[in-house]
Amino acid sequence: MQRARVRYDEKNVPTIQVKTASAKYPVLVGGGILPTLHRRLPKRNRVFVLTSPEIWALWSRRFLASFPKGEQPSVLFLPAGEQYKRMAQVERLASELAYAGADRSSLLIAFGGGIIGDMGGFLAAIYMRGIDYIQIPSTLLAQVDSSVGGKTGANLAAGKNLIGSFHHPLAVYADIDLLHTLPQRELRAGLFESIKAGVIRDARLFRFMEQNTATILKRDSKALEYVIAASIRMKANVVGIDEKESGLRMILNFGHTVGHAIETTTHYRKLLHGEAIAWGMLAALQLGRSRGTISSAHAERVERTIFAYGPLPSFNTTAAKLFDAASHDKKNRASVRRFVLPDGIGNASVVENVTDTELITAIDWMLAKVRES
Ligand SMILES: NC(=O)c1ccc[n+]([C@@H]2O[C@H](COP(=O)([O-])OP(=O)(O)OC[C@H]3O[C@@H](n4cnc5c(N)ncnc54)[C@H](O)[C@@H]3O)[C@@H](O)[C@H]2O)c1
Repeated sequence: MQRARVRYDEKNVPTIQVKTASAKYPVLVGGGILPTLHRRLPKRNRVFVLTSPEIWALWSRRFLASFPKGEQPSVLFLPAGEQYKRMAQVERLASELAYAGADRSSLLIAFGGGIIGDMGGFLAAIYMRGIDYIQIPSTLLAQVDSSVGGKTGANLAAGKNLIGSFHHPLAVYADIDLLHTLPQRELRAGLFESIKAGVIRDARLFRFMEQNTATILKRDSKALEYVIAASIRMKANVVGIDEKESGLRMILNFGHTVGHAIETTTHYRKLLHGEAIAWGMLAALQLGRSRGTISSAHAERVERTIFAYGPLPSFNTTAAKLFDAASHDKKNRASVRRFVLPDGIGNASVVENVTDTELITAIDWMLAKVRES
């Protein structure tokens, strides 16, 4: 695999460069970034922070530590939860920016998990037709996945992330110290996305996760830093090649066809995003195994690793509902079903000929595992 460039900045924080057709920005990964935040920011008259009340209660002191008196940022809040990832909230936040005097040269910092990151990025994309923003992801899932790549957006009643825009941040600061307060279940949900990264494009990352489960789950900082940096390098490499998801970038959706269907049919209430993707990866693995794109031995290794980072919560839905929701997947074009299948460990491809029977059989197999769990 062609690797995104890694270099070390003046304070020895590993830095991965994202370079796409329309943007170039650094992703810093490591501990102790937050207390050095102010000197890393571009000089702007006004700085705004979008965060949630819970995250701000935990981290505002650290966040503000580097800001001199008189240069404190203004803070906007979005409550936690998918139900607030909506256009009405974008409009409210844009109005708050306007009343607070934000102009085109203002900087927005999205400080939180994937919801804050997606909403902050979308707000920055459309406020005065676009302002600069920085991502400070505070969940593992946001650090390894959602903060990188420029996809921003909000949900509609009709489905998840159905409105949005590509708008890259100026920089991403993934401070792993933020993970100290993250509940274990949220940590595991992020680790499932890193397993995905390994399976689709980085066999070394997958092996590392397979062999160091206990160390990673205990949050050993070196092990976490390796997993986070490798996951980001994989994503940076893919979006560098295919920024707008016209080809290769689709492989990042491994596990997402059935995963999103699970989220939709359980109304986003039962599972965390990463957990739904883990179940979706199991269904896709089964489909790959029955087609022979992945050997049983490789599929079983991936399954074992997913369950080693479990437990995966069970949920209640039917194969028919999942099949129906999966058939409305955003990746499908002109009723052609697009599906990401693993070709062994470290490789995946997008196929367009998955039949209804194959999909239903894989969903049934997965639901049997759900009942066992
Ligand atoms: N843009 C992309 O490319 C992309 C990729 C993957 C997922 N996503 C989106 O990301 C969202 C999921 O993100 P998520 O899993 O980070 O969930 P989230 O943003 O809902 O955060 C999960 C929970 O953790 C809390 N939290 C955040 N940081 C914390 C910390 N440091 N300590 C304690 N609690 C903390 C939050 O308040 C929230 O309750 C979904 O909306 C999904 O669609 C986007």
